[in-house]
Amino acid sequence: MLVYVGYGLILVHVALGSLQAPERPPVLAILLGIGFAGIASLHLVAGWRERAPTPAAAAEGSAVDVCAVADIPLDRALIFVLSGERVAVFRYRADGGERIAAVSNVCQHQNGPLGEGRVIDGCITCPWHGYQYRPEDGCSPPPFTETIPTFSVRVENGRVLVDPRPNPPGTRAEPARVGAAAADEEPS
Ligand code: FES
Repeated sequence: MLVYVGYGLILVHVALGSLQAPERPPVLAILLGIGFAGIASLHLVAGWRERAPTPAAAAEGSAVDVCAVADIPLDRALIFVLSGERVAVFRYRADGGERIAAVSNVCQHQNGPLGEGRVIDGCITCPWHGYQYRPEDGCSPPPFTETIPTFSVRVENGRVLVDPRPNPPGTRAEPARVGAAAADEEPS
């Protein structure tokens, strides 16, 4: 997150330099101020949108019922807070069927919100700069080496149940198969 401090210092440096040149109108400083306000607003909006619903607490060691399968748009995710962790639960196509997988919502690059990305070519793709992770084990495809925690998940009666205890980064967690009945529930 220190990169944002770096951005801020660069802005202050350029703005002060502009203001110290009296022969030039402070247009640059004003534009920098507008740009800073715009970027800060975007981050605040993104943080607001990332507020995640917290499902009812589960008994120690038991899976949490987070949503219905049909609530998750295909090739996208819903984000939940489980045991204090943001978890992205994806629904995607694989091997001729549909699967549900859960991973940490935090990208290893710059903490981007993976749950706001989508599954492209079989990989969860971060919406910020495009880092990718396999939904089944949280590993970036070769030659990349980033890994994120996974969560064990299962589907029962069209509901998605997630174990709130994270698996170590890069651990395979078998994606849940979506049955034909659940697939029929997909909203149009
Ligand atoms: S934060 Fe940069 S790719 Fe995810």
